[in-house]
Amino acid sequence: MNLTTYLQAGYPGLAIVSSEEARVEAEVAAVCADLERKLLAWSSTEGLVDTQEGRVTPCPDPLDALELLDTPFHTDTPRLVVLLRDLQLYLDQNDPQLLRRLKDSLRLAKGNGHTVLLLGCRLKLPPELKHEITVVDYQLPSPEELQVVLDGIIQSAELKRVSRELHESALQSALGLTTTEAENAFALSIIESKDIDPIIIAREKANTLKRSGLLEVIPATTGLGDIGGLLNLKEWLQGRIGAFHTRAVEYGLPAPKGLLIVGLPGTGKSLTAKATAGAFGLPLLRLDMGRVFGGVVGQSEANLRSVIATAEAIAPCVLWIDEIEKGFSGSKSSGSTDGGTSSRVFGSFLSWMQEKDKPVFVVATANDVAQLPPEFLRKGRFDEMFFVDLPGEAERRQIWEIVIRRYGRTPADFDCTALAKACEQFTGAEIEAVFIDALHEAFAAEREPTEQDITAAMAHTVPLAKLMDGRIEALRQWAKGRTREAGNTTPSRSRPARHIDPGAN
Ligand SMILES: Nc1ncnc2c1ncn2[C@@H]1O[C@H](COP(=O)(O)OP(=O)(O)O)[C@@H](O)[C@H]1O
Ligand SMILES: [Mg+2]
Repeated sequence: MNLTTYLQAGYPGLAIVSSEEARVEAEVAAVCADLERKLLAWSSTEGLVDTQEGRVTPCPDPLDALELLDTPFHTDTPRLVVLLRDLQLYLDQNDPQLLRRLKDSLRLAKGNGHTVLLLGCRLKLPPELKHEITVVDYQLPSPEELQVVLDGIIQSAELKRVSRELHESALQSALGLTTTEAENAFALSIIESKDIDPIIIAREKANTLKRSGLLEVIPATTGLGDIGGLLNLKEWLQGRIGAFHTRAVEYGLPAPKGLLIVGLPGTGKSLTAKATAGAFGLPLLRLDMGRVFGGVVGQSEANLRSVIATAEAIAPCVLWIDEIEKGFSGSKSSGSTDGGTSSRVFGSFLSWMQEKDKPVFVVATANDVAQLPPEFLRKGRFDEMFFVDLPGEAERRQIWEIVIRRYGRTPADFDCTALAKACEQFTGAEIEAVFIDALHEAFAAEREPTEQDITAAMAHTVPLAKLMDGRIEALRQWAKGRTREAGNTTPSRSRPARHIDPGAN
């Protein structure tokens, strides 16, 4: 936690957003002890507690607690850290007196060498305080911290020997949870299976993250073999499979940052994102960017922070942001609509992308680049940007084979070359839909699907590409020079150019 740095630098107003009160407070107490600061913790029910001496002063009004900051510190009165719990509930009421008092206190605190620290599960500062209070990033528990929780649970459940491997994979499964959530997951595992079961713990984590509405753990069941075509893209991924291993880290290899995949709907972008996690052997987290921005105004910054904290705790992992333009489409016009929140949050996301040192591999997909802010496409954010075009004939053939196999049939029973020829302009998703249609026909007639079923289904499918011809051309033009081609329908000898700063346009 960078609380130490902020305290040393004399910041008068800090805030920590976390629902783990006990853990945060223990850590704050440790930092204060280190820096020889006196920690006074206030809550409306307990009043003011001197955490070192255990002395309690009744003080139901936060205004009275703030008064403490008015006293200058001397050599014999230490610098204070006044921790205020749930002050948000008071701030929500927009009480002018409290706001004014807080601003006064912060100014005095700066002069007096004290600090106000807000702690709560959410933070939505009124404009009056936006620039007065700095949010301290708070990380989720490390494996070592979770280990303490796990050992405690194992002890209290009087479990017999728990093997080292089991222990490790239980911790691995719990990464990304708060201590309380991890404790619950461990306990549930013991109740359900009378043992520590990493699968149950992982399932509980998936449920917990899903409830937050921002992140979802997706089982990574597909691999690169499930993707037809996209040869360049698959090769690129193939070349980075080992990059997250400890060996790569020891070698000094920087962890790959991520990938942006742009292309028409149905061309296999989402499929590739999922297959990336499968190929890398990493957990897959899907982020709903729309939800990060879509929530209560003011909450989006906290949302993003929480997403980053979770992904970094689970790292190495793949963070998949599907149809990213949907989340960011507001950030262009945001200045007038939401007081600049989206562009600020968007800015923090970009700087995280650029500076992150934790191995979180971001795979973003986009159907419509026109909605993406140009800063996003600037060099340095992603390792590479790929453009997925409509599949060529050879690629369509591969997709047919994969799709036929996916539905439990044998590609050799069909003339895949003829099928590939017959479906020009079809995307992978459309090929799959046609095959499913044919399966339905055949099932109704109580037989196996035939090429005729497939051809018939094809005949009444109008590929999307036909309907949006103009848009495809525009996208291709845009992609030229800025992105690499994901497929290689036109094999080139030399390595295609890396993306160019579109800002120069
Ligand atoms: N290149 C491909 N290879 C194999 N299957 C594909 C391919 N492209 C699309 N599909 C099939 O179509 C489905 C939808 O594709 P998807 O990845 O969601 O497209 P996008 O995200 O580009 O809109 C996939 O789940 C897969 O079954
Ligand atoms: Mg998709």
